Amino acid sequence: MAATNRTLVVIGSGPGIGRSVTSRFASERYNNVALIARRAEQLEVEEKVLKEAVGSQLKVKTYARDITDSNALLSALQDVEITFGKPECVFFNAARVLPSQLLTHDVKEIEYDLKINVSALYVCAQRVIPQLIELAKVDATAMPSLIVTSSMLPQDPIPQVFALSLVKAAQRNLMQSLAMTYGNQGIYLGLINVAGQVSPSERIYNPTNIANKAWEWFAQLKENPGFEVKI
Ligand SMILES: NC(=O)c1ccc[n+]([C@@H]2O[C@H](COP(=O)([O-])OP(=O)(O)OC[C@H]3O[C@@H](n4cnc5c(N)ncnc54)[C@H](OP(=O)(O)O)[C@@H]3O)[C@@H](O)[C@H]2O)c1
Repeated sequence: MAATNRTLVVIGSGPGIGRSVTSRFASERYNNVALIARRAEQLEVEEKVLKEAVGSQLKVKTYARDITDSNALLSALQDVEITFGKPECVFFNAARVLPSQLLTHDVKEIEYDLKINVSALYVCAQRVIPQLIELAKVDATAMPSLIVTSSMLPQDPIPQVFALSLVKAAQRNLMQSLAMTYGNQGIYLGLINVAGQVSPSERIYNPTNIANKAWEWFAQLKENPGFEVKI
């Protein structure tokens, strides 16, 4: 049963890991969910599926934004605060999982991936980390958190997806710095590392199992703090 006014913000809402983790987290804890992604039509689908999974009492608001536009991202976060109040959990899930061929891949594509995975995360952290620290001070039952979907690409790059590999490495590095600096202030900053290609037919790397493992890890962080979970 969701507690009163707990808000989850999903940055990078989509039909894969985004959908399954959002549904699981929302059914366990949150009564307000904000979904951010570029495609308005897909967001409509995500909202419908989420309400079917969790229940029509769930309040959902969608924001069709490209998070590489910092002002667009910040205005969405500001509207979430006005609509639902300051978030308790920000789930940063946005990425393009696309092949990239070394030496022929356009540098602009790498820069765009960097903006999605690193610049947007940084802009988001600038806004929400002070809010999460405040929340930790006033509500001992809260789980103020910024959780990012990652993989093993930072440690084990795959040359056929070198662009995603390198931006995921930079993203992990940023999260490590944030956790080292703010992780002792009652907030949870961490990574969900999905160690393989996601598909509904995969035994381990299917979205439902990933969501279950992610929730199990998240739900015990107060008793057993940790930076990451590997699935
Ligand atoms: N898929 C895998 O096999 C796999 C494996 C390991 C880890 N991961 C990680 O898991 C996360 C989710 O991957 P997924 O494939 O399962 O995707 P997903 O959860 O289905 O959706 C992610 C969503 O991010 C959104 N997004 C991308 N660029 C954006 C931008 N510039 N602004 C706003 N939203 C943006 C996209 O929606 P729009 O197109 O509507 O913007 C996309 O649908 C990623 O971080 C990925 O690196 C994935």
